[in-house]
Parts: sequence; C-alpha cells; structure tokens
Amino acid sequence: MTTTPTVSRATAVAARATDLSKVYGHGETQVVALDQVTVDFRQGEFTAIMGPSGSGKSTLMHCVAGLDSFSSGSVRIGETELSTLKDKQLTQLRRDKIGFIFQAFNLLPTLTALENITLPMDIAGRKPDKQWVQQVIDMLGLSARLSHRPTELSGGQQQRVAVARALASRPEIIFGDEPTGNLDSRSGAEVLGFLRNSVRELGQTVVMVTHDPVAASYADRVIFLADGRIVDEMLHPTADGVLDRMKAFDAKGRTS
Ligand SMILES: Nc1ncnc2c1ncn2[C@@H]1O[C@H](COP(=O)(O)OP(=O)(O)OP(=O)(O)O)[C@@H](O)[C@H]1O
Ligand SMILES: [Mg+2]
Repeated sequence: MTTTPTVSRATAVAARATDLSKVYGHGETQVVALDQVTVDFRQGEFTAIMGPSGSGKSTLMHCVAGLDSFSSGSVRIGETELSTLKDKQLTQLRRDKIGFIFQAFNLLPTLTALENITLPMDIAGRKPDKQWVQQVIDMLGLSARLSHRPTELSGGQQQRVAVARALASRPEIIFGDEPTGNLDSRSGAEVLGFLRNSVRELGQTVVMVTHDPVAASYADRVIFLADGRIVDEMLHPTADGVLDRMKAFDAKGRTS
C-alpha cells in the first residue's frame, strides 16, 4: 500500500521566493521576465509550473535554484537566504541540496552515462548509495546503456540519464524543466510516476515546468504563470481540469 503524505499547508518550506523580479535589458528592449512573484515550495510537495512560452517559467526556476541572479526580491532554500551567500557557498548549496533536470540535458560528453549520473556526488566527495542508484537506473531503463557516452544515446535516453543524475543524490529539492518533454508517453509516465512516488514515499520535493496537462496531473498542485506573474493555482490537479484552465486563459488572452 502506498502511504499518502500529509501535505499540510503548514509543512516546512523547501524553497520560497518573495517579491521576486527579474528584468532583462534596459529601455525599449527591457523585458520583465518575473514581476514580483511570491511562492512557496513546501517540503514533500510536487509542484508543476505551467504557462505560455516566454511567461517566465524557466527564469523562475533558475532564480529559485540559485542558477541565475534576480533584480529584486528574495529567495531562500530551506533556512538559507541566497543573497547572503558568496559565490562559493552558493555553488556548494546547489551541489549539496539541489537536483536539476534541464531543458537541455547538460550531460558531459566525455563521461559515460553512469559517470554522468554520479558526477555531482563524485565532485562533492560523497559516496553514492549504490542500492538507490541502481533502483533509479532500473526504473529509468538505463541498465544496458551505462557505459555509453551521451552522443551514443538517443535524446530520450539522454533525458533519462539527466533525470537519474538529479535523483541519484536524493537532493532536498529537485527542479525539472520539462523533464519528460522528449520522452515517449510510456517512458514519460514512468518518470513522472517515479517522481511522484519519490515525493509520496520519500518526502522528496519536486518542482517541474511542463506544457503537458497530463504531466501536470501527477503533481500535488499547479501554478500558472503569465507575463512573469502567478495568475492561478490549482490543487490536486486532473489533466482535464488543467486543460480547461488553460483554455480559459487562452480565451481571455484573445479577448483582452
Ligand atoms: N538572457 C535573456 N535576455 C533577455 N531576455 C530573456 C533572456 N532570457 C529570457 N528572456 C526573456 O524572458 C522571458 C521569460 O523567459 P523564460 O525562458 O523564463 O520563459 P519560459 O516560460 O520558460 O518559456 P518556454 O516555455 O518557451 O521555455 C521571455 O520573454 C524571454 O524572451
Ligand atoms: Mg523555459
């Protein structure tokens, strides 16, 4: 039996953005990618971020994950305010506490699949939990590909290596930018199911950008971005519910 966690609204916060703004450029070419966004990502919660292309999803995730600077506002991971950290400390925090699955997979071409999966732990001088890493590899169907280099893997396989790398060290929070975007629906469903189980059974915290209402339905909640702002939130989403909400936004966009 799978145990459903108590995702109480009072649960500790894994990451929080407060009045977060990010402006690119100046004057006429200025783009407000994030406009005073305030959002909590609670421990043991699976959040999907949705919104049209250019609405600020990747920017939000990169700023909260300490990968990108922001123009104003604040971000904390656990109890740590990112603005108080020096570069080296920020790098360390990212390495030790955060797992990433990028839109581009960012695998190192000279390393094998297995070496890519354990790289963050190798850099940190941490011993991988072999049993867990094997479980992740099996679930992602990568066992037969571990000695291959990224160029010898299909796009979907590379994506699965990137997912395995993020899960392998059991970070406090995992950020995924369309982590299943290049997978066929069966592998995608497996990865999403695994992410959901890691949230439900292990208390993992996951934040995932997606365009796919079915993928979003695996999450505990969906936040909707438009023009750099959070415009809606849905708890216990279903694919149909998310689709309806997206259609409503589209209709509004056309009439306004
Ligand atoms: N380096 C940059 N310089 C200038 N503008 C940028 C830069 N990066 C992003 N932007 C702009 O910021 C806005 C938000 O971009 P972002 O990448 O966060 O969108 P997104 O919601 O992730 O879109 P997509 O679904 O296409 O990935 C867009 O208008 C984009 O053009
Ligand atoms: Mg993006």
